Amino acid sequence: MITDKNIPRHIAIIMDGNGRWAKQRGLSRLQGHKEGAQSVRAIVRACKDEGVKYLTLYAFSTENWARPKEEVAGLMKLLVDFLKEQECELHENKVRLRVIGRTEDMPILVQSELKRVIKATSAYDSGNLTLALSYGGRSEIVRSARLIAEQVRGGRLKPSDIDEATIAENLYAPDVPDPDLMIRTSGEMRISNFLLWQLSYSELYITDTLWPDFRAEQFHEAILEYGRRRRRFGDIDAT
Ligand code: FPP
Repeated sequence: MITDKNIPRHIAIIMDGNGRWAKQRGLSRLQGHKEGAQSVRAIVRACKDEGVKYLTLYAFSTENWARPKEEVAGLMKLLVDFLKEQECELHENKVRLRVIGRTEDMPILVQSELKRVIKATSAYDSGNLTLALSYGGRSEIVRSARLIAEQVRGGRLKPSDIDEATIAENLYAPDVPDPDLMIRTSGEMRISNFLLWQLSYSELYITDTLWPDFRAEQFHEAILEYGRRRRRFGDIDAT
């Protein structure tokens, strides 16, 4: 039996393996992403059932723009469909949508759908879904540094007052707590430029399961594994 204290407050996920899942079945990569979008729906729902308050999903990295044009266009369409279809459930469950990343790079239709749903859900706090879109961890830290430099130039901040909290406050979503658990599907042992600042003390869970096969049951297993870990944050183990 897991107790509340063992439930991660914030889970971040690198959703990898859609292409491999499709290839194994002789399907197109886009069909893999479509099935991956079904996993997204299942995991958003599972967060409510498991009592996970914050979920951050790496849906599109700054590097993903280099993929073939049709794949990028297909992913953008999936995102718009997802926002349209998911909106009802976000309202029902009082889930707030946020986005982190260079959203200004996204197609106008994606931007306007995002803006609309973000605004419509901004007062909710039962759950928090953050989509990382055109996101890169290094570029997020660079952006934070620039915002801080502007504050220094404007005389609102002294260089000697800059500390870790200042960097964190200038990230995309300063009100979202750092992830307790980071899940990566499909076996790759990499962080891939995801939440570089925020993952400093997160537990990592890497599974060979491909993202389209990652559903409530696999999510529950990851949470159980998290519950068995001892988080020491650099301290010694007191028990
Ligand atoms: C990685 O699989 C996945 C992506 C680059 C995109 C993730 C997108 C989705 C899960 C669907 C749409 C998202 C939402 C929020 C509705 P890959 O293509 O790199 O797989 P591979 O490594 O096996 O080729």
